[in-house]
Amino acid sequence: MKKEDLLALLNDMTPEEKIMQLVQLPGSAFESDFAVTGIADEASFDKLKKLAGSVLGIRGAEKVKAIQDEYMAGQPHHIPLLFMLDVIHGHDTVFPCPLGQGATFEPEISRKGAEIQAKEAAADGIQVTFSPMVDLVRDARWGRVMESTGEDPYLNGEMASAMVRGYQGESVADKEHVAACVKHFAGYGASEAGRDYNSVELSEYTLRDQYLKGYDKAISAGAKLVMTSFNTLNGIPSSGNKWLMRDILRKEMNFDGVLISDWGAIGEMVPWGFAKDLKEAAKLAIEAGVDIDMCTESYAANLASLIEDGKVDGELLDEAVLRILNLKNDLGLFEDPYHGASKERYEAITLSKESREIARDAVRKSLVLLKNNEETLPLRDGNIALIGPYASCKNLHSSWALSLDPEKTVTVMEAAGESKDVSLFLGMNQGGGLGGLNKKIVRVAKGSTILDNDTVLGFGEYHNESLDEENEKLLNEAIEVAEWADTVVLCLGEDIGQSGESTSRTNIMLPDIQMELFYEIRRRAKKLVTLIFTGRPLDLECIPDLSDALLICWRPGTEGGHGIWDVLSGEFSPSGKLPMSFPWAVGQAPIHYNVFATGRPKPTEGVTNFTTRYLDCPNEARYPFGYGLTYSSFDISKPVSDNDVLKKGENATGADKINVTVKVTNTGVVAATQTVQLYIRDLVSSRVRPVKELKGFKKVRLLPGESKDVSFEINEEMLRFWTINNKFESEEGDFRVYVGFDSTTENFYDFKLS
Ligand code: NOJ
Repeated sequence: MKKEDLLALLNDMTPEEKIMQLVQLPGSAFESDFAVTGIADEASFDKLKKLAGSVLGIRGAEKVKAIQDEYMAGQPHHIPLLFMLDVIHGHDTVFPCPLGQGATFEPEISRKGAEIQAKEAAADGIQVTFSPMVDLVRDARWGRVMESTGEDPYLNGEMASAMVRGYQGESVADKEHVAACVKHFAGYGASEAGRDYNSVELSEYTLRDQYLKGYDKAISAGAKLVMTSFNTLNGIPSSGNKWLMRDILRKEMNFDGVLISDWGAIGEMVPWGFAKDLKEAAKLAIEAGVDIDMCTESYAANLASLIEDGKVDGELLDEAVLRILNLKNDLGLFEDPYHGASKERYEAITLSKESREIARDAVRKSLVLLKNNEETLPLRDGNIALIGPYASCKNLHSSWALSLDPEKTVTVMEAAGESKDVSLFLGMNQGGGLGGLNKKIVRVAKGSTILDNDTVLGFGEYHNESLDEENEKLLNEAIEVAEWADTVVLCLGEDIGQSGESTSRTNIMLPDIQMELFYEIRRRAKKLVTLIFTGRPLDLECIPDLSDALLICWRPGTEGGHGIWDVLSGEFSPSGKLPMSFPWAVGQAPIHYNVFATGRPKPTEGVTNFTTRYLDCPNEARYPFGYGLTYSSFDISKPVSDNDVLKKGENATGADKINVTVKVTNTGVVAATQTVQLYIRDLVSSRVRPVKELKGFKKVRLLPGESKDVSFEINEEMLRFWTINNKFESEEGDFRVYVGFDSTTENFYDFKLS
């Protein structure tokens, strides 16, 4: 539809029709005549169903088409209904959770993943996905860190913009793509004490310099929607924050797409004590520029009278409706209201071999090797025990994989069994003799349940194993298998219901039942490889010290088993790097590498009294941001540069750009990929700057003995920050550039900006 036709349509709509475009209903309203919006009486509910502009949570091409047909027939202008869903890290083919994707340090992997998710979801009737989540995360107590790509603004921005490009493609009108929704604007990741839905206090400096950057990049990549966050930001709930939404999001970030509230967030201004009732909440939200009210009755019940009584400017309504109509038009819904949804196409493309291959590649690139003593990995030939509740667990996705069928997931055990050189046996030796022609004999034992008996989970339904299983029997079996083996691979982890929304924890350790299993197996294992399945950084207690090798597997998704076995077997050398610091103890939270030095930095040796420190724990992470081993070893040269001075102003001396180069050498005996990371520190500035900030990274694959020069370009723009003048600018002076393999690198080079 042409722009003028859209305007004509808008002008022809009744006020009621317009208001209803701003209302989003949950799928239950259409599927079971039940909506949690609070609107109880039948007449109003019927009207909502007839006129509401969008719905979330319905999938299935046939169902979508039927609902769309009925809806459009009743909608006075035959405006199509918009279908949205949380497709977060996979529709049917599920990729590693976003935190795992962050560990790949490979935006292209996320782009490809998002492209596949869009293709599957679009065929299944979805037109908008509530992804990417770009919240910067520093506190592992917050369960939603799993949905983010981590603690660094630069990495976060790169990954998020890649996801937007993947979901949306060249044009969202294309039937294989969906519109992306950047969330949760803004600062949700800084929820106080890591408790979900909590308040956020961020100075404007930290907000702009750290937290807003990722959203900004995702928006610049063209995301069609943005979602408000649940939190207050410096005392103001996001859905009613005019400054944040109108000045920052709309004006500064030039966002002209649809702003949708998070679920119920407009209504939540009432319990926050920011609005006295839903009517006032509606006024605050529409004035802040929130176009769609997700699942409350706030807009539906109040906007009409607010406008009639002159309390809300009617133009705000027209503005919001036009943005929604524009989105529908961009998606091509006026021409094809199903956006290409097709049962046949969905069945033909979903979980295709190619999609699985890409997901498998994403998994193996996401795995982070934290320890590998005496080359315990890759696994050698011989007797291998695959023990632990995750050895054969199908729940390798997260609580945000809403559409997948876990039966389609490949477990670690299944992947091992598919391997040509493996003979696989389950459980106790039944006396039948173990062996065969294969070089690796793998025996599997569950060992324990994932959770302790008394664990409370909000999402009990995700937890589908019986807690009453006889743990003693499981343990005895595991012990027998461990004693038989040359190497034990112990697969431990958080439960699927322990990370995601509403899963904040003050204890970020593994469940006791698994720690008991760990100790029992450690005592017997000749060599112990521990795999950790997790949606957040954990306090790993003694696991790193007592394991010979340690691999973080995140929540790896449908192809989890394959990707993991590729790495265990040596088919693929691990290359993942931590996107979020792993702490020594939960008491360090929030923890991140890009901190300020303080006026009393802790010395690396000598007396530390009256310096910034803990009495009982290091300041630094146990495993820092950017850290991860490979099966090889690497050397890096000192950085060299083609110029020591970078030019700032018109008359300044120096170069417009400087190139910093290091020579990276694979000093080991296997081909492997290393991620070379560029960090910069502004040494003296009008506002204190972080000790290091990631400004670039490059992955380089090298054969044994091979060397390659890796160069990074540094320009003035990279040195800008939110200065004392309250604007992004660079300041002349000295800078230190670090190039290394993780955020603790001390391999640096100094230059000047003049
Ligand atoms: C609440 C969550 O915070 C948000 O991330 C999600 O997209 C919506 N619910 C819709 O499911």
